[in-house]
Amino acid sequence: MTHTIAYLPGDGVGPEVASAARSVIEKVADKFNLSLEFKEAHFGGAAIDATGHPFPDETKSICDDADAILLGAVGGPKWDGAEIRPEKGLLEIRQRLGLFANLRPIAVMAGMERHSPLKTEIAKNTDILIIRELNGGVYYGKRVEGTEKASDLSEYSRREVERIARIAFETARGRRSKVTSVDKANVLATSRLWRTVVTELQVSDYSDVTLEHQLVDSMAMKLVTNPSDYDVLLTENMFGDILSDEASVIAGSIGLAPSASLNEKKAGLYEPIHGSAPDIAGQGKANPIGAVLSGAMLLRHSLGENDAATTIEVAVQNTIHSGTITSDLGGSASTIDVTRAVCAAL
Ligand code: NAD
Ligand code: IPM
Ligand code: MN
Repeated sequence: MTHTIAYLPGDGVGPEVASAARSVIEKVADKFNLSLEFKEAHFGGAAIDATGHPFPDETKSICDDADAILLGAVGGPKWDGAEIRPEKGLLEIRQRLGLFANLRPIAVMAGMERHSPLKTEIAKNTDILIIRELNGGVYYGKRVEGTEKASDLSEYSRREVERIARIAFETARGRRSKVTSVDKANVLATSRLWRTVVTELQVSDYSDVTLEHQLVDSMAMKLVTNPSDYDVLLTENMFGDILSDEASVIAGSIGLAPSASLNEKKAGLYEPIHGSAPDIAGQGKANPIGAVLSGAMLLRHSLGENDAATTIEVAVQNTIHSGTITSDLGGSASTIDVTRAVCAAL
């Protein structure tokens, strides 16, 4: 059986890191006798330039028919003043495919603590899975643009909170069985609903999983003072966006962090959590590891190839240990050097 992967390189460093991930996936596919077909499509700013829309119809049909989607990143200063922004394509693809569950793992591997900006004793043993709700909240509410007054509505329904909370509890059972639900229940109505629904679900279906609630402001502080206290962090769309960039640097760099965005059928979109990094684009400096690890998540979650995924993760660890690292981690290797080293380590 051939698996089809929609390949959307996007903008800025997107094509650099996406092609790294693709090379590693192709290499591991050879090793495990997997038949894969990549279908490249325009997305983001590159798609605006080619077609006038960040998520053109042809890309939609390629994504609809694919078993999984591999994405680089979108956006950049070129399109900042544009009427339609590249980021709109990202919001549309997440909504179209119902990708409500965004998994963002952040781990400080043993021996890697020196890459963290935090003290070794604080960074060590950090192993957090951020589960970010991706189809609701302020990202999708009614938006009123304006030069004098503007507004962005945040809405959540019980159903939306419950389905993402269920993913968090189920996933926690395969880890350290602890969920920290992050909200702003001291101010926001959506957060009070969030807290009620998460609490009720834990009592009814997941009493074996420990649940704690944390306000988002103190969570931001505790993430950098006691990161190893946390297992699964469950949160809404915008808080998850912000906390995941913060958490990513505990491991050393945002360039290391992968993500999977899944729907009810586990069809998914896989991308590093970082953006198009316009400040380093086109210089061969981008760390490809976040994209490569997103490729591992693709193999695991959408293609069911757990061993191939683990093989990539081990190759990445060995590569970092060997010192072939990009400048964000204090090294001097290029994107391509790291990609070749991971392929060799496979
Ligand atoms: P960014 O994540 O692109 O960059 C933030 C900082 O991290 C920069 O200094 C950058 O050089 C560094 N960085 C990012 N990825 C790196 C990598 N792989 N290796 C080494 N260093 C890396 O965030 P930004 O500058 O705020 O956003 C730039 C553009 O990207 C914006 O248009 C934004 O909307 C877009 N964006 C897209 C996505 C996405 O496609 N999923 C995610 C975030 C931001
Ligand atoms: C991310 C990005 C996106 C988000 C932007 C580019 C729309 O920051 O994937 O983390 O806010 O979700
Ligand atoms: Mn983000």
